[in-house]
Amino acid sequence: MTVRHVVEVAQFDRAELERLFARADHMRELPPDAAPLRGRILATLFYEPSTRTRLSFEAAMLRLGGQVISTENAREFSSAIKGETVEDTVRIVEGYADAIVIRHHEQGAAHRAAAVASVPVINGGDGPGEHPTQALLDLYTIRHELGRIDGLRVALVGDLRFGRTARSLARLFCLTEGTELVFVSPQAVPMGADVRAALDAHDVAYRDEQDLAIVLPHVDVVYQTRIQRERFATAEEFEASRGVYVLDAASFGRLNPQAIVLHPLPRVDEIAAEVDPDPRAAYFRQARNGVFVRMALLDLLLADGERPNG
Ligand code: CP
Repeated sequence: MTVRHVVEVAQFDRAELERLFARADHMRELPPDAAPLRGRILATLFYEPSTRTRLSFEAAMLRLGGQVISTENAREFSSAIKGETVEDTVRIVEGYADAIVIRHHEQGAAHRAAAVASVPVINGGDGPGEHPTQALLDLYTIRHELGRIDGLRVALVGDLRFGRTARSLARLFCLTEGTELVFVSPQAVPMGADVRAALDAHDVAYRDEQDLAIVLPHVDVVYQTRIQRERFATAEEFEASRGVYVLDAASFGRLNPQAIVLHPLPRVDEIAAEVDPDPRAAYFRQARNGVFVRMALLDLLLADGERPNG
């Protein structure tokens, strides 16, 4: 693999994406006694809460025969509380582990960590910046569910301003052909100009649409996201954006019969539980795919013969 660290989706090209996805397919069938990362250690440094990203990375490493050291509330229970910088923490942890997954509340923290690290650093989400491994598993899920990643009409719904998963996924579509994106967001949280500029540079078509009901019959993928209370400056701003776009039984009645609905999770109230049994509701299968994609990523970064040379 030519990338050494994984901090943003722009590091990937189409060939690397295809290679990663093929590897993830292989990981689905990996025999339980296979242990390509035996003797390797992964450190997970999480300064923000997580269920899926931390546990699926740790499960991935364990399934590959490796071991894990972890701090799940690094903001409070690591020496960050004493004032230690991310850079110093990484310089210490690289002496204990062969790779580091970091989630941090500050945008750019993963870049800062990677800049000083001698072992691979993987961005598990940096504030409202990026969440590249989520985008990789999202696109892998689309490929697994629909059989292709080109020529798709995709609605990105919800908090597109602070939502790092939607931001990373939109950028990842720069590696696809014939994609049409529709941004459906409350007015306070539109897709950022930086992402739009990246899409323009790669000739990816996109438009904004306020009415989700108009969009639902015409798209192949609906990517719903949570309005993130923790990213708003005031409760009033948050309340103005919440509950605007909710997927429920009526929405699924309008949805293209061949479409899938994804969500990076956690959800709060933006997808009603009543639609969970619908086969088009793919979000729990999507979360499961996170293990296979993260296994593939760790294997490509760490396995013998695949050592990064960057
Ligand atoms: N999708 C995602 O990043 O979930 P967690 O916050 O639980 O890791």
